[in-house]
Amino acid sequence: MTRTDLSNVQVAKDYTGLCGLVADRIANLVQTKPNAVLGLATGSTPLGVYSALVRRHREEGLDFSRVTCFNLDEYYPMSPKSLHSYRQFMAMNLFDYINCPNWFVPDGLRRSASEIEQDCLEYEARIADAGGIDLQLLGIGRTGHVGFNEPGSAPDSRTRLVTLAEVTRQDAAPSFGGIDNVPRQAVSMGIGTIMDAREIVMMATGAGKAAIVRAAWTEDPTDHIPATWVRRHPNVHLRLDESAASLLLEADA
Ligand code: PGA
Repeated sequence: MTRTDLSNVQVAKDYTGLCGLVADRIANLVQTKPNAVLGLATGSTPLGVYSALVRRHREEGLDFSRVTCFNLDEYYPMSPKSLHSYRQFMAMNLFDYINCPNWFVPDGLRRSASEIEQDCLEYEARIADAGGIDLQLLGIGRTGHVGFNEPGSAPDSRTRLVTLAEVTRQDAAPSFGGIDNVPRQAVSMGIGTIMDAREIVMMATGAGKAAIVRAAWTEDPTDHIPATWVRRHPNVHLRLDESAASLLLEADA
């Protein structure tokens, strides 16, 4: 068996250390390229990164005034005013506390299929007009999804309306007060959109992600595990804490 390539993997002792690593990389990019374009993610994983960036803005004057941010996805249907929306999540966890005027989240408002399709094309065009994404931050779902690209997503997929996997809806159920309240669909950047980024930082924390992290970094690229496509990116970095890394390191031992 060929040994797993771990040259692009870095393991921090714990979640705080992991978030420090990732926040340092983003801060460094923003300092060297003040008009950087960031691709951002929601979920519990990046929360510590966002609080580290807020702290650096507040205490060190890290300047986001010329940065543009594009989020990966939004539930559908979802009002942008809903506390469950990813728009509100990003406002409450990052953008209300830094000086970044240009940030975009896909629109989750209910509308016709053709309007959604048009808006998805516009989202892609807006990313291209901004110069493309310099650094895309990613979590990984227990299904191996990146963004809301669930198993079955093609490597050349673009921003589009997608159907959420049952596991993903179960994972979201507590914050929605039950699975029946979790939307069945979402608008998500595609794998192709993500792969166009010049750099990708995928992060995972906790033992609950150890199995999918190992699969993502050891299995041959397959539509069944969308994160396996991401491993093929020429400038991808996997950042883990010790518990998320445990099975990957075991596979390599
Ligand atoms: P989580 O979600 O950060 O809440 O674990 C990750 C993901 O679904 O991409």
